Amino acid sequence: MKRDEYAFALDPNLPKPLVCKIRDIFADPDTMLQRRVCLAGWVHHWRMDGKRLAFMDLRDGTGFLQCVLTNELCMTYDALTLCREASVRVWGSLQRDARAKSGLELQADYWELVAPSTPEIEMALTHESNPDILLNHRHLVIRGRQSSMILRLRSLITQCFREHYFDRGYVELAPPTIVNTMCEGGSTLFKLDYFGSDAYLTQSSQMYLETAIPAVGDCFCILPSYRAEKSSTRRHLAEFHHIEAEMPFINFENLLNAIEDLVCDVISRLLDKAGDLVRELNPAVAVPQRPFRRMTYADAIAYCREHDIYKDEENKVHFEFGDDIPERPERLMTDQIGEPILLTHFPVSLKAFYMQPCVDQPDLTESVDVLLPGVGEIIGGSMRMWRYEELMQAYAREMMDPQSYYWYTDQRKFGSCPHGGYGLGLERFCCYVLDVKHVREVCLYPRYRGRLSP
Ligand code: 4AD
Repeated sequence: MKRDEYAFALDPNLPKPLVCKIRDIFADPDTMLQRRVCLAGWVHHWRMDGKRLAFMDLRDGTGFLQCVLTNELCMTYDALTLCREASVRVWGSLQRDARAKSGLELQADYWELVAPSTPEIEMALTHESNPDILLNHRHLVIRGRQSSMILRLRSLITQCFREHYFDRGYVELAPPTIVNTMCEGGSTLFKLDYFGSDAYLTQSSQMYLETAIPAVGDCFCILPSYRAEKSSTRRHLAEFHHIEAEMPFINFENLLNAIEDLVCDVISRLLDKAGDLVRELNPAVAVPQRPFRRMTYADAIAYCREHDIYKDEENKVHFEFGDDIPERPERLMTDQIGEPILLTHFPVSLKAFYMQPCVDQPDLTESVDVLLPGVGEIIGGSMRMWRYEELMQAYAREMMDPQSYYWYTDQRKFGSCPHGGYGLGLERFCCYVLDVKHVREVCLYPRYRGRLSP
């Protein structure tokens, strides 16, 4: 059969169509029911029912709509050889149909193939495909209903963060992500050759934000950060999106309140914008109750000891004050408690060099981690060392060369002030809100140890 053997013509007597997106149809179905429309998208699913009837689930990036093709519309060469994921344009009128998933369907009066797909598409991925095959074919996986919905919601969540900050008067900045300093310790730095000099991919934009508070006041950035993480857990990536903020002239209590405000306001904005969509993934989603439970690091050590959460599970070794609480026990504790926790006052020895020691207990820091059930730590923050001498001592303690940090130190020379801030991992936040298990699933193309493609 040749391509145009069954060609059929667009009827010039039909009303001029409204070229629109599927989202426009669901935004105002009553008006759209009166109109003839033209949609463009991809064949998400295609089913012939006998010779004269076919159902096409159309996906256009804004939604899904069932299109019904009858008679000669499904008897053409293009219809008979149509494969899933082909791109098409469809013209027709909308009608209500209780049998369609969305309650609406498009009765097509014309359609055309924009570009074909091939039967290979059915072999690329199956229900049995293992996670590695799925990740190798992530470019196809993201076309799926659930994955595309997650990408859409991640975009909305990012928008809510920006709206939160702009509403609260913050300025967005764009610090460089190729740097020659470290912020969170040398063990997770990615090194690269920068025109013959050593450089690193940034671990955090915090220090640059700190230098900008005398220029713009409260500020934030949403940029990738990089960690050469050896551990491959469901919450660790080598490249993640870091939402960071810095605020001058605040105290520790102000910092904790700003963090609570951020988490609650962003979830509330998201539910206002797309509550129904979010609930499809996470029916139990809710804005957390404020104030969040506050626990000191010392409380957490005591909690683990009292609740048989061990440092060494096999040999039943308890945590001692001064031990780092790794991911697993931290998650066990958070999941048992079952609500957001502001975990504060970590020992100096466990935290980054720049954290402000507590006035009354200088071996502790004004630091905070936010722990959420199901995910664990999503935010790390602190008050920053703001006195020159103290910072110089911290460089010496950590054996860091102050020369590379002159621009950071200068802030303590020229009009220092108490200040603080935090960083939030966007992927972990998305996992929490959308009840997704693995950070990989909320990334377009995740980067973690062992994966660099696609
Ligand atoms: O606790 P972290 O390491 O803090 C900082 O980088 C600070 N300099 C931030 C600041 O104060 N401006 O990282 C902050 C958050 C973590 O709580 C986590 O959500 C996320 O960044 N994060 C990661 N997310 C995914 N994969 C990784 N490997 C991550 N490392 C940190």
